[in-house]
Amino acid sequence: MQIRVLGSAAGGGFPQWNCNCPNCSGVRQGSINAQMRTQSSIIVGNGSPDWALINASPDVLTQIKQTPVLQPARQMRDSGIAAVVLMDAQVDHVTGLMMLRERNSPLPIYATQQVFDDLTAGLPLVKTLSHYCTVEQRLISPEQENFSIPELTGIAFTPITLSSKAPPYSPHRHDPHPGDNIGLLMTDITSGKKAFYAPGLGVIEPQVEQAMRQADVLLVDGTFWTDDEMISMGLSSKRAIDMGHLAQSGPGGMLEELASHSTKRRILIHINNTNPILREDSPQALQLKALGIEVAFDGMHIEI
Ligand code: MLT
Ligand code: MN
Ligand code: ZN
Repeated sequence: MQIRVLGSAAGGGFPQWNCNCPNCSGVRQGSINAQMRTQSSIIVGNGSPDWALINASPDVLTQIKQTPVLQPARQMRDSGIAAVVLMDAQVDHVTGLMMLRERNSPLPIYATQQVFDDLTAGLPLVKTLSHYCTVEQRLISPEQENFSIPELTGIAFTPITLSSKAPPYSPHRHDPHPGDNIGLLMTDITSGKKAFYAPGLGVIEPQVEQAMRQADVLLVDGTFWTDDEMISMGLSSKRAIDMGHLAQSGPGGMLEELASHSTKRRILIHINNTNPILREDSPQALQLKALGIEVAFDGMHIEI
């Protein structure tokens, strides 16, 4: 199984278009040791030209240009994106769907009922796309054991319900339902090796812990270093947890959780532009290095 990180930043990207925080202005000016990152997405493949796009970032066109394997050219109009799998209906995970409208066959999208509901009501992308390529809705039930993607043999996908947050426009924002957000345990059927992907992860519940135990590689929520990161910078009144993200530092934080998985490859992904781990020489980045925890970057390859 092959995973490639198309976009390793959280919503807004790095730098964010309207942000002058030390990280954003520093990377823009080239005055800090950091690299730019696009918004949250990965692809998963089995070595064939067909890939699953996990989340469709607003930056998907740039990401496709930066990823030649997604342009196989088997015919005049062609794409390596065989299907899309959505973890939630957040703007940074779904708005790239609009950019895929020139497809000449219906776009297969795997999502929960909650996500399809949001994409039919509050942000009706599925309805809009019905006037272009059309969408083939493939329903993920959060209770189901696993599903496979016919276009992509050899990989089993297990949806893991988790606590994060439905988007601000969703009627579920303050009324959570199972299926608003999922993580994905992906298994290479031949080798039995597994990767767990959860770009939004607020609470490590038992089913999440179990999925993390089974996995050989963890790609998990790296949004914020501290729970009050946005508040202390004067950028928002919300804590990380209010936005559905478990901060890395502090008691009960992601680093404590990752400490109990020290034998595996552990990668933080979906990193907010305020996070000090983006500066490769920051004390926080050096702390991660010492712990053997990686920070995802655009173009990162993971072979499992
Ligand atoms: C989040 O995960 O909280 C998002 O990145 C928010 C957004 O897309 O604006
Ligand atoms: Mn996000
Ligand atoms: Zn910023």
